[in-house]
Amino acid sequence: MNKLWGGRFNKKTNKLVENFSRSIQFDQKLAKYDCIGSLYHINVLRKAKLLTVAEHAKLKKGLKSILTSIEKGAFFKNIDTTHEDIHSYIQALLEKKAGMVALKLHTCRSRNDQVVFDTKLYCLDQLTKTVDLIILLDETLHKTASKNKDIIIPGYTHLQHAIPISLYDYFSAYHEMLFRDIDRLADAFVNIELTFGAGALAGTFINHSHYVQKATKGIPKPIKSTTNAIDVVSDRDYIIESLSVLAIIGMHLSRLAEDLILWASKEFSFIDIDDAFCTGSSLMPQKKNPDVLELIRGNTGVLYGNLINVLVVMKGLPLSYNRDMQHDKEPLFKSFEITQQVLEILTELFKNIAFNKESIAKQLDDEFLYATDIADYLVQKGVPFKTAHSLIGTLIQTKIKKKTNLLQMDDKTLKSIYPDLNKAVLKKIINPKQSVQAKKSVKRK
Ligand code: ARG
Repeated sequence: MNKLWGGRFNKKTNKLVENFSRSIQFDQKLAKYDCIGSLYHINVLRKAKLLTVAEHAKLKKGLKSILTSIEKGAFFKNIDTTHEDIHSYIQALLEKKAGMVALKLHTCRSRNDQVVFDTKLYCLDQLTKTVDLIILLDETLHKTASKNKDIIIPGYTHLQHAIPISLYDYFSAYHEMLFRDIDRLADAFVNIELTFGAGALAGTFINHSHYVQKATKGIPKPIKSTTNAIDVVSDRDYIIESLSVLAIIGMHLSRLAEDLILWASKEFSFIDIDDAFCTGSSLMPQKKNPDVLELIRGNTGVLYGNLINVLVVMKGLPLSYNRDMQHDKEPLFKSFEITQQVLEILTELFKNIAFNKESIAKQLDDEFLYATDIADYLVQKGVPFKTAHSLIGTLIQTKIKKKTNLLQMDDKTLKSIYPDLNKAVLKKIINPKQSVQAKKSVKRK
């Protein structure tokens, strides 16, 4: 097979080396972007008068037909994976389709800037797709929250009963996280500079003005002139930034999954997850396991690992391009795939989640949940907060010692704690709705 770089060599490449260095098995995901990049590049070559009108037309026709077969999927069925990478393979295909003129395609171009351009286009596409999927999940969460607007649940800190909160507010917390994620994805999108003309590392003899182009179909932002060719071929910040945003998204979704796993346990019994989203046990016939949610939690480890992977690959590399960088792609592709899959599956899972109001209500009977509200009552009567905290602490101690409910204590005991405290007052305070409504500091959106 004709290599892009064969001329200088007297010997055929060792088979072990070929197998070791090949990337086509994974970088074929860049096929579409490679064609789009080449279609743009032939325009640059034409502007620089390095192609005649007829040559340009021939190359365009050939590249377009390859692009069509990529979009239709046929390309991947027939792909020859003995080629070194997707860039070499598309070059070889074009030579077959367009003939000798294809030998001009690589004029003033190196795979060093080609791979950057292709991967940046891939990132731009995937960042947008991820935003769209987050919006769908957020909409489903919002629907679930609105449908169950009246449900109040115990709020937890340290996984201990804290203060009642509304289920709506609980889901709104995830809305906040997801919208920060969207902002981060948008920032990553904005931070990607699309340039071409870096060549191998030093630029090319084509004037920079020829490289400038407005956004077009397949190229979602304008292409600027390269301001530093060395940086363009050395930089993988856009990959690391994407991976770090995906790691943060993973962390958020993993916490959501963890809450749902707890809520689906017998001990909580707050929710029932649709059978279609659970799995069973090969041994224990009664089991209905939240494996999907556990896999979401587990996949987050892969997302973190992928970020660290690329950071470590990059940290010791001398400028400019080094082949180590070939290892940036698998983690990148995998992280986008995992994140999008998780977003899709969570969106579907949420459509059929049922809340078990009775179990939730049982938990809300726990009077500990209202201790802060009782202290707040004393504060509003003029008691300094620290004193109120200590008085209600004593009241809770009495409750624990006597193994009784606060609402069963007699007025004499209550009044001994604080003169204004009595059964009627406690009855008003020990109420989930009252507790939630009493919180006025939050200006809900
Ligand atoms: N497959 C390579 C990569 O992904 C493409 C660039 C190869 N460049 C080179 N000079 N060998 O990084």
